[in-house]
Amino acid sequence: MSLYAIGDLHLHFQSVLKAPGQLHGKVWKKHEEKFMKNCMKTLSAEDTLVLVGDHSWGKNLSECEQDLQYICDLPGRKILTRGNHDMFWDSKKTSALNQLYQPRLTFLQDSYESYQEYALVGTKGFTFEGPFYLDGRGRIMGWDEKAEEHAKKLVDRELQRLRKSFELAKADGYQKFIMFLHYPPTNILEETSPFTDMAEEFGAEQVIYAHCHGESRFYDSIHGEYRGRTYRLVSGDFLRWKPQKILD
Ligand SMILES: [Fe+2]
Ligand SMILES: [Fe+2]
Repeated sequence: MSLYAIGDLHLHFQSVLKAPGQLHGKVWKKHEEKFMKNCMKTLSAEDTLVLVGDHSWGKNLSECEQDLQYICDLPGRKILTRGNHDMFWDSKKTSALNQLYQPRLTFLQDSYESYQEYALVGTKGFTFEGPFYLDGRGRIMGWDEKAEEHAKKLVDRELQRLRKSFELAKADGYQKFIMFLHYPPTNILEETSPFTDMAEEFGAEQVIYAHCHGESRFYDSIHGEYRGRTYRLVSGDFLRWKPQKILD
């Protein structure tokens, strides 16, 4: 029995791919076939797979039905968290989604799921991604301060959701945590952030995130051991569609 994660499947069985340029490279060609094959090889019915957002390009639930069916058809228990492109998932209607898809999928939001002695907590997260203003040599000289102000509000809201999830798990007696985000925990300007602080406050052993696509973005945030925790980027194109093992 093992715990795996991946993010950014960006499925589009029913919807038009309107993806930015970096989602059109070779790695994206028939990516859903590659991923299904890798899952069939790696995962068993006893395993758990956490999918950390950007599941589908569909604009609403009816445009996502085949994408979600594909996820249902993957082996093992499937837990989904929200990404910035998941228009089908209104955060206020998470319980309706869970009702619709139980027991096949779990949509995780403002809550936690257990895995052995661990509580799995997850939310979309947020990080300021610019626009940054560069000089002729590509050095950052400034950024859009209005956008940065707005980003702070989104960060605060996501932090509240994350805190609630950790506290629920703690109240139920959990002392070991794995934290899942869609956005990276830090942006290119930061060494730490309110998300790395929260991971440290609650003692999360690992912080799993996605959202960074294309080679130029893979190293925007933290990889590996950092301040006592393990950080892992699990975007599908970074992993070449092989689910990442998180725990045995
Ligand atoms: Fe994405
Ligand atoms: Fe994303």
